[in-house]
Amino acid sequence: MSLHRPKPALPSDDTRWKLVNATMRRNGYADHALIETLHSIQNAFGYLDETALRFVAAALDVPLSKVFGVATFYHLFRLKPKGRHTCVVCTGTACYIKGAGVLVDALRAHHQVEPGETTADGALSVLTARCVGACGLAPAAVVDGEVVGKLAPEALLARLDRLDAAPAPPGLPASSRPRAPA
Ligand code: FES
Repeated sequence: MSLHRPKPALPSDDTRWKLVNATMRRNGYADHALIETLHSIQNAFGYLDETALRFVAAALDVPLSKVFGVATFYHLFRLKPKGRHTCVVCTGTACYIKGAGVLVDALRAHHQVEPGETTADGALSVLTARCVGACGLAPAAVVDGEVVGKLAPEALLARLDRLDAAPAPPGLPASSRPRAPA
């Protein structure tokens, strides 16, 4: 981690990389800046892709395996872009008994998306949770931060279709909103 080691070129001329670079420079390109740098990238771009991880490894002179290890160990880091909308299907016991699996199947069939993934058009991220605290409303899901319960698959799909026509609701974190491509 010599300060005189040549630094890799920025991955692109996207000005957000200058912010990332400033984080590393402020820390003297020391390897202890790894987590802060990854935070900086995620704040700027919304997620960490392979190009970003390789760049950080080269810039901080940290083994790529360590960068991947840190990026995948901490749940707050995401390696894929988040969709404009998020649907968390509860698969806890109460919801499972009441048909959570049918909801997941409907999302899979209608949106071609698996839990933990985002649709190809970036519109919808689907996640699952063990219990969202609304067992009395089972089967439940959280759509863009709002709990919806007693869901039939058709109702869930219709609700998601309506979201496509509307902007993300106010109050959502900036990371939930559409981003320019990295
Ligand atoms: S099990 Fe689904 S809300 Fe509790």
